[in-house]
Amino acid sequence: MCKKCYVTTPIYYASGTPQLGNSYSTVACDVFARFNRLMNRDTFYLTGMDEHGLKIEEKAEAAGVKPQAYVDKVAEEAKRVWKDLDIKYDHFIRTTDEYHVKNVQKIFERLLKQGDIYLGSYSGSYCVSCETFFTKTQLNEDGTCPDCGKPTKMVSEEAYFLKLSKYADRLLEHIKNHPDFIVPETRKNEVVSFIESGLDDLCVSRTSFDWGIPVLSNPKHVVYVWIDALTNYISALGYNSDNDELFKKYWMSGVNTYHVIGKDILRFHAVYWPIMLMALDIPLNFKLIAHGWILTREGKMSKSKGNAVYPGDLYSRYGSDSVRYYLTKELPLGNDGLFNEERFIERYNNDLVNDYGNLVSRTISMVNKYFDGIVPTVYKTNQYDEELETLMASVIKNTINYFDEFKLQNAVIETWELVHRANKYIDETAPWVLSKDENKIAELADVMYHLLETIRIVAHLSSPYLVQTSTKVLKALNLELGTLVDLKYGFDYKQMKLNNLEHLFDRLDVKKELAYFEELHNSRKPKEQVEEVKKMNEISIEDFAKVELKVGVVLESKKHENADKLLVSKIQIGDEVRQIVSGIAKFYSPEEFVGKKVIVVTNLKKAVIRGVESNGMVLCAADDKDLEIVTVNNAKSGTSVR
Ligand code: MSP
Repeated sequence: MCKKCYVTTPIYYASGTPQLGNSYSTVACDVFARFNRLMNRDTFYLTGMDEHGLKIEEKAEAAGVKPQAYVDKVAEEAKRVWKDLDIKYDHFIRTTDEYHVKNVQKIFERLLKQGDIYLGSYSGSYCVSCETFFTKTQLNEDGTCPDCGKPTKMVSEEAYFLKLSKYADRLLEHIKNHPDFIVPETRKNEVVSFIESGLDDLCVSRTSFDWGIPVLSNPKHVVYVWIDALTNYISALGYNSDNDELFKKYWMSGVNTYHVIGKDILRFHAVYWPIMLMALDIPLNFKLIAHGWILTREGKMSKSKGNAVYPGDLYSRYGSDSVRYYLTKELPLGNDGLFNEERFIERYNNDLVNDYGNLVSRTISMVNKYFDGIVPTVYKTNQYDEELETLMASVIKNTINYFDEFKLQNAVIETWELVHRANKYIDETAPWVLSKDENKIAELADVMYHLLETIRIVAHLSSPYLVQTSTKVLKALNLELGTLVDLKYGFDYKQMKLNNLEHLFDRLDVKKELAYFEELHNSRKPKEQVEEVKKMNEISIEDFAKVELKVGVVLESKKHENADKLLVSKIQIGDEVRQIVSGIAKFYSPEEFVGKKVIVVTNLKKAVIRGVESNGMVLCAADDKDLEIVTVNNAKSGTSVR
């Protein structure tokens, strides 16, 4: 097993706050990355945000903001959710980041130059929601999208194409020679039959909207959002930049690279991405792990069904470990899992409160009670010890193996074998009986030591998902998190004293919690859309304070030579005179504008508008039909507006 590891999660599509379903990949990858770090592997975990495309452009428009402002807000929101969920990533890439934009442009030009991309024309059906083109035969009978069922749009335009068929045989060969390239097997078979059914060249540019990365040599085209998004995996490592050390380290030198993805985006990762890499002469050094979906009883979670659950709904009330635990335990590799509130509460109460929480708190309080909190030394054994010790060894080995294979659910179940066994061990050895007999002190010490060892081992094995709980448990044991590499029974505590145990989990009242969820869903149903738009538009007082507004007097004004909507004016702001271009010519003649005391945004980046430099912006009250300049009467030129 290689000592280096590159773990990537699909970059989250910036269409709003992440829901529980689309948080799954990020949490699962974080668990996997944490596990690999505990195996002493030099691990780089990449996550980020996918920010281009027509859907984002439309969302931003609906929210009344520019696409960049829209994605900036969503990125902030997503980062906050990941932080609250204890996601520990090494890099967060955004597809609007300049280094990524440059990389995509360079790659596109290179593929164009070497003939893998060519200019043609596209006419067909496009699903805005999935950002995907479909041929007629792929569509549902009623012409809707085969993936999401929404209506598709007919599009006809000049477009660039990537030659997929040229690489089909090589890709099939690679899949055949690398049985682990795509797991699970069922997904691999799906990919193989998709390729074998014949690959049409892929349309990789669009001209009907702007929010994307422009093709350098032909900027009226923007790069197809999936080509843009997939490239993130190497942009983040500095490929095509001045510093590609990370690329050499985490891609080229025999690394374990894992692209973890949901089953819905398999084709992009298993066909288009490897073909792009082949065309770029980059080795296919990665393994694809395709997981299933978290579903509700009514199918996929969705805002419109009113059944969307956000991670914040859960972690703000039950802590981040409860969400991480649920997601890690829920999905068998490759299959779908279920989320519903009853199940979440049940799992919390049974697994976390009853099984694990109780085991830990009983153990610590018994050591406190019977041994004044000093870890006792063992010099006697009982008939149940051997079985417990053997189980510890096998649970450690199996849990590690399951994690290695990304069988996260099995890893949790395996570790819980030990939790269950230890709870049974308490019943079998009955420490409260032993404690009443002075001659049984050695046996009692032995029991306590075995229980402490169990919780130390469980805290380590569960730490990839129970991040905060493990820290608390280990703190109570006066220990820090160690590696999993040498984890085994028999730790020498050197008679150290335990610390107080911080509070772990509270038993939940099922009725009360279900009422909480019901209220939550009801409160969201009708207003949700409106609320979301409002939220997108919200800014903090600090944000507002960034805008510098001053009073200015219009000295001169004339019509722009090449644009009949624009006036080019000289405006005096205190001691300074600035040239400002304003789109007001339909409403004000230059003569009417001159002499007005207007409000100017003075710290706006300079811009060139239709070939004329503009240094600032004049505030107006405007709607679709009317426009009026905002003016002041008495304030002097240069006065700040607050
Ligand atoms: N932006 C693309 C990925 C580009 S990667 C080069 C994307 N983003 S997404 O936000 O729509 O999805 C992110 C991840 O969440 C994907 O792996 C997707 O499969 C996963 N999920 C979305 N809904 C899900 C569930 N309900 N359950 C589990 N995972 C699902 O796709």
